[in-house]
Amino acid sequence: MMVAACDNMFRYQVVYVLILISSFIIVGQAEKHLNANGPFGKRHKFNNEPSPYACDRGAGVSSSIFPRRNKVVQTIQVSKTAYMSSEQIQITWTPILASCKDDFIGIYYIEIPLTTACDYFDFEFVQNKQSSMSWQMINLRRPLEFRYYSRDNTCSGNYSLIAKSPTIQPLNYNEPTQIHLAYGDRIDQMFVSYLTNSSQYIPQCQYGLTSSSLNFRQSGTTTTYTASDMCEGKANTWGPQAFIDTGYMHTILLEDLRSSTTYFYRIGTDEHGWSSIYSFTNRPADKNEAVNLITYGDMGLSPVEPGAKSTIDRVTTRVTSMNITCLLHIGDISYARGVGALWDAFMTQIQPISARIPYMVGIGNHEYDHVMGGDKDPSGAPGPGGFRPDWGNYGYDSGGECAVPMVRRFHSPSNGNSLFWYSFDVGPIHIIYYSTEHDFRYTSSQYKWLEQDLRSVNRSRTPWIIVGSHRPMYASETDEPYDFIKIMLQFYLEPLFYRYHVDVNLFAHKHSYERTCPMYKQKCVSDGITHVLIGMAGQDIDSGEYSGAEWSIYHDQEYGYSQLWANRTYLHFTYYHNDNDALVDQFVLQK
Ligand SMILES: *[C@@H]1O[C@H](CO)[C@@H](O)[C@H](O)[C@H]1NC(C)=O
Ligand SMILES: *[C@@H]1O[C@H](CO)[C@@H](O)[C@H](O)[C@H]1NC(C)=O
Ligand SMILES: *[C@@H]1O[C@H](CO)[C@@H](O)[C@H](O)[C@H]1NC(C)=O
Ligand SMILES: *[C@@H]1O[C@H](CO)[C@@H](O)[C@H](O)[C@H]1NC(C)=O
Ligand SMILES: *[C@@H]1O[C@H](CO)[C@@H](O)[C@H](O)[C@H]1NC(C)=O
Ligand SMILES: [Fe+2]
Repeated sequence: MMVAACDNMFRYQVVYVLILISSFIIVGQAEKHLNANGPFGKRHKFNNEPSPYACDRGAGVSSSIFPRRNKVVQTIQVSKTAYMSSEQIQITWTPILASCKDDFIGIYYIEIPLTTACDYFDFEFVQNKQSSMSWQMINLRRPLEFRYYSRDNTCSGNYSLIAKSPTIQPLNYNEPTQIHLAYGDRIDQMFVSYLTNSSQYIPQCQYGLTSSSLNFRQSGTTTTYTASDMCEGKANTWGPQAFIDTGYMHTILLEDLRSSTTYFYRIGTDEHGWSSIYSFTNRPADKNEAVNLITYGDMGLSPVEPGAKSTIDRVTTRVTSMNITCLLHIGDISYARGVGALWDAFMTQIQPISARIPYMVGIGNHEYDHVMGGDKDPSGAPGPGGFRPDWGNYGYDSGGECAVPMVRRFHSPSNGNSLFWYSFDVGPIHIIYYSTEHDFRYTSSQYKWLEQDLRSVNRSRTPWIIVGSHRPMYASETDEPYDFIKIMLQFYLEPLFYRYHVDVNLFAHKHSYERTCPMYKQKCVSDGITHVLIGMAGQDIDSGEYSGAEWSIYHDQEYGYSQLWANRTYLHFTYYHNDNDALVDQFVLQK
């Protein structure tokens, strides 16, 4: 008892000193992940590149409606004027005589004035003599057009409009897009969600045990959000590179589903049309059945972030060829940060996975962190910017979204606080998501909920407990020597997790992979918690040094994904690189 008390006292003092030190450090983190990426998947490097990257508005657009070169705006030919989401459109034009290195073709809402060259959704530079390019479309629910702008005066003057395409539109504005599944409160439930341009009809799901007998019907509800629903900044602003009309998010809660049973389904309405038929297999109810989860964090958009595309491709292959039960994406989801079209692009990107297995999300700094506007914060955290202790480097990382797009688009069980903290069972595993972006100290409601949830786990029902959150409790990369959030997580939550014999703690935020020994308080111990950093899913990759900590068993800085297989007695965690799908790290835990 005495030893424990002294030990506690000592740790309090250490933490107090750390808090003092930290208040002298100016936490002036630059925005690391700039929106260099566009929703149409055009790859934009940021440095040493000519204008429209940070579109050079200063260059201006020639005030004359007649462009310098031809005095006539030419036509950009399009392979189709009506498209389905994810279809390619091929565009062609007659090359001009001498092009400049920052001539570009952009995609625009048709009502954007021709003199506002920078207000595109996305763009690609035109190379000399180039006469065609390909665009992978996403349904933005409004008429669009391509425009070709070129610089005047031997490439030092204003932009002139050279050519323009006819209007292109979705074949069906209400095509069901962005289909995704999520677990509900009960094991017999499944959320099925999608998005259209209309709230006119009640969303429907038709489902059944074979693809030719979709005999069951369920109807759902519709929601949306607008710029003023979000907290601040870019998220509150209208524009092609900020908030755009989101369309309507539809969700149907299926019930009375049998466990471990495959269902076929489609969603839509007779009036607006139906999706293709997809299938999912509901989770097992029996702890004796094995489950197989995919886990990662920090993805972003492909192919701009090269890792995101390779992760999506590798995981899609697994989801379609193996029995994958569900996917855990533990924060830093789309990196939209107030750019609405990036949400449309991300939700479209994950559909090959999320229409087939539940896509369970946790909250990251890039979905939640904000400084002002806290009365709009759906998590109900107090204050204008939520949890912002002096010792934390909580920034402005959501572009003002403060998780509003997250809670309207994704679903989860409701036993905690929305998407911010919640728990669910998958076969023999009890999974708990907690938020490192919210107060996790002893007095917080999150801490109380965590303790109550951990206490209520029946370990003969779910022998495994896996917790997941966004920021690391342990990571040995040395790039952030003053990461006090890490230390505070060790101080407040590690003892709680240890006391309740948590098996695995998953986190991301750093863009790399690292696995520890089973450990407690900086030391490897036989009954400790295995920590796994899985922030390697796509949004760039770290390159820094490591401290050489003893508890770090394996780490690398490559794009990849991980899989967690478990039955009642045996848990097998595996980590794969995207480039060759090679298994590069694994561990086994046994009961
Ligand atoms: C170039 O752009 C500037 C700023 O938009 C504008 O004031 C000026 O008139 C333009 N020059 C020509 C030749 O159109
Ligand atoms: C799409 O939705 C917007 C906003 O509700 C509406 O103004 C527009 O008419 C819709 N477009 C079509 C083609 O239905
Ligand atoms: C997937 O599960 C089904 C039914 O549980 C089983 O028949 C099949 O063999 C499994 N496939 C693989 C690749 O494990
Ligand atoms: C825990 O789960 C086991 C196995 O499912 C069950 O037999 C037992 O009654 C449960 N215990 C409690 C306290 O609910
Ligand atoms: C769990 O899986 C391991 C490894 O495949 C196997 O040896 C063990 O028998 C399984 N346990 C149960 C209870 O099925
Ligand atoms: Fe992060």
